[in-house]
This record gives sequence, C-alpha cells and structure tokens, in this order.
Amino acid sequence: MASRTCLAIILAAGEGTRMKSATPKVLHPIGGRPMLGHVLDAATEGGAGAIAVVVGPKAEALTAFVGSAAPSATMHVQAERLGTAHAVLAAKDAIARGYDDVLVLYGDTPLLTARSLDRMRAELAAGTDVAVAGFRPLDPSGYGRLIEDEGQLTAIVEERDANAKQRKVRYVNAGIMGFRGAGLLALLAKIRNDNAKHEYYLTDAVEHANKAGKRVKAIEVDADEVAGVNDRQQLSHAEGLFQRVMRETAMAEGATMVAPATVWFSYDTKIGKDVTIEPNVFFGPGVTVADNVTIRANSHIEGATIASGAVIGPFARLRPGAVIGARAHVGNFVEVKNTTVGEGAKANHLSYLGDADIGARTNLGAGTITCNYDGFDKHRTTIGADVFVGSNTALVAPVSVGDGANIAAGSVITHDVAADALAVARARQEDKPGWAKGYRQRKAAEKKARKGK
Ligand code: UD1
Ligand code: CA
Repeated sequence: MASRTCLAIILAAGEGTRMKSATPKVLHPIGGRPMLGHVLDAATEGGAGAIAVVVGPKAEALTAFVGSAAPSATMHVQAERLGTAHAVLAAKDAIARGYDDVLVLYGDTPLLTARSLDRMRAELAAGTDVAVAGFRPLDPSGYGRLIEDEGQLTAIVEERDANAKQRKVRYVNAGIMGFRGAGLLALLAKIRNDNAKHEYYLTDAVEHANKAGKRVKAIEVDADEVAGVNDRQQLSHAEGLFQRVMRETAMAEGATMVAPATVWFSYDTKIGKDVTIEPNVFFGPGVTVADNVTIRANSHIEGATIASGAVIGPFARLRPGAVIGARAHVGNFVEVKNTTVGEGAKANHLSYLGDADIGARTNLGAGTITCNYDGFDKHRTTIGADVFVGSNTALVAPVSVGDGANIAAGSVITHDVAADALAVARARQEDKPGWAKGYRQRKAAEKKARKGK
C-alpha cells in the first residue's frame, strides 16, 4: 500500500453540545491526549500522507491543536452544518489534489486503529470503490443500518429513514469510510438532502455508487474500536476501553501489576521489562520507565524518565523534568520536578526537589527541601556525588554543594558548600545542667500554692 497515496479527512465540525463544555468535544482527552490527536495518529500510522481536518466556525482551539500535533494537516471550515457529505465537501480542494485512497474519519471516534485503516485500504487496493467500516453493537439504535446483498453493500439506511425490517438489522455503519479517490467528487455531487433530517448524508454515496455499478463493501471492525464519544459518559467509557488496551500491552511486554484496573496510563507511557507497578499508580503524559523498576502504590508520575532498577514510592510524585537515575530511590511523600537524581541516590522521605541536580549515591535526609523560588524567579540547586544531607535541610537556591560534602541536620544552606566540607547552618546547641529539674520543682510549687488558696 506504500505505493498508493492517501488523504484522510477528519470530520470535527460537530458542536459537541452534549459534552456541556467550553472545550471543543474532540479536544477532550483520552489517555492524556485529545481525541483528535488519537485520530490524527491513527491516520498517519495508517499511511495517510495528507490529512484534512474539517472544523466548524470558531475553531481557534482546534486549529492551534492541529497546528502543533500535525503541522502538515490542512484545515477546512464547514460554515454551516448540513450533513456528513457536506462536511467532506468542505475539503473539496484537498480531494481535488488527487489521491488513490480517501479515508473519512470522525474526530470523536478516538479508538480507531491504524490496523483497521490498513484493512480498508487493502480493500480499495483490491479494486473496491467504497469501503465502509461496520460493526455489531448490542443496541443498534441511532446508527445507519448496513444493507448487504451477496457481499455487496447496497445501502446504508439512517435510523430515521429506515423501515421496520431495516431497523432490525444489527450490522451498522461505524462512520469510517474509504473511497477510491478518482471519481469521489463526482459521487459526492450526486448526494441530495431529501431525507428525514434534510442533511447531505455521506452514507448516500453507497447507493449512488451501486447505481453506477461500482464495488461497495462493508468491513467488520471491533465494536470497541469505533466507540463514539458524544457525552461525558461515553468519554469515560472510551477511556476505560483505552486503559484496558494499555494495561494489556504493559503486561504483554513484561510489567507485573497486581491490580491493573487501578493503574492509569497515558497514550505515550513507555514501560520496560520486569517492571512492577503496585496499585493506584497514575501515569500522566511523557513517562518512560526502564527495565527492573519498581513503582510502589499511590504514586503520581508525569513527564518523567526513570532508569533501570530505580524504586519509586509509595506515595511519590514525579513531575515534568524528573530524571531518575539507575537504582535511585524516591520514597514516600517526595516530590521531584525538573530535577535529575543521580545513580543510586536516595531521597526516601518527605522532600521537595525542584530545579536541582543531585549526584550519584548522594543521600538526602527526610525533609530536605530545595527552596527554588524567590517569589519572582526559579533557581537551581546543584548537589554533587556522595553528599550526605542531614534531615530537615533547606537549600536556598541558587546554591551548590561539592562532592562528598556533609550537611548537618536542620541546616539552612544559603551559600555554596565546598567538596568534602561539613556545613552546619543552624544555632549552636546550648545545655544548662539541671535546669529541667529545677523548672519542674518551681512549677509544681506554684500549682500547689494556687490550690491552697
Ligand atoms: C453518522 C452516520 C451513521 C453512522 C454514525 C456512526 C451519516 C449520515 N450517518 O450518523 O450512518 O452509523 O455516524 O456514529 O453519516 N459532522 C460534521 N458536519 C456535519 C455533520 C456531521 O462535521 O455537517 C461530523 C460530526 O461532528 C461527527 C460526524 O460528522 O463527528 C458524524 O456526524 P453525526 O451527526 O454525529 O452523525 P450520526 O447521525 O451519528
Ligand atoms: Ca454521532
């Protein structure tokens, strides 16, 4: 199929009113990525060398997203929402450039795989003129019914236009269609809006193609792949289906999860082999986990890279720019942001490490805090290798600590510490022998005198 050119037209002009949201429907995320991003990825992976996105008026947010996610895609405005065929025609100039295959996808069907698009394109390559993705939902209501005759798809009848017999058909149109590019514009020109909704139905292309003696076929795809999202209930359903695939993939590739249903992945989470993920772990976008890592329960991780053998959590928070070295430990209630933690370094308890570089084998005591923000700007803290930082130390950035240095517990470090030095930055301890005993006796006597009154 590599030799065949392909245009994917993604319909995203819907208003998404049922989402009750200020955000356009197709920008709502599945696995941390806008739905439209998933569709763009599937189109690209499915070999679409060109992508046209059809949007409604007021599509600034959509245009900005497509500009960053698929810069070569072209945007086409459908000013009035007159039906799916009318929407496809908004991308007329793209179609007119001439492609072997033209795929029509929906922006609100985010789980579609490139594999299914490959199957549709293989059908077109084999001489089919129109290929329609069909599926069999438990409840077919609302979908266009696929009417077949000896392997030829003869019509798609929309629910509102269907008779009682047609409504009983459970094989329905998923919405994804593939067309032979040559002749597509002529085919679309034949579509009229003489139906219950007075819309130009793309699905009518099937009957017109039949009349012209063309080959039209339905290709069955997995119902889960074509789950459409119209409201937040369906959004969470699609998210659940997506997560199931991600969990199965992680396990298939060598991750152990005792409670996979409690682990949440993003679309781009990369998990190595022999990784153990305990319950209730959340991966936001941009996470790479190498082999032999253990992620303990209740950790929240995003934008982080974790090298082999590291142990994270329980209750760790890794934020964007956290780079955790091999065999390092990041323990409970430790937050790491824009910070590299060296090989074998340890921050086991209750710390904030922001905008810092921590050397190999360095041990950060409980309550170590990098004071990275002065109210106006962020500053870096640099800690060398083999450093020992005592508990409850505040490092006021910008500041650096040399290799092998030792910082006394409770220090507030405001200037650089030389390699191998000891820094003590707190009030010196003062002892008064016998003071506590005298204090107790004095207080007891006072209390007795009060009661005696
Ligand atoms: C459509 C199909 C139906 C199929 C179903 C699958 C038609 C006529 N019907 O019905 O056979 O079973 O999808 O979900 O195609 N859109 C535009 N501009 C428009 C109209 C629609 O961009 O003028 C976009 C929508 O945003 C949406 C998609 O096209 O992403 C489908 O439109 P929608 O109105 O939801 O079609 P359905 O009635 O669900
Ligand atoms: Ca729909």
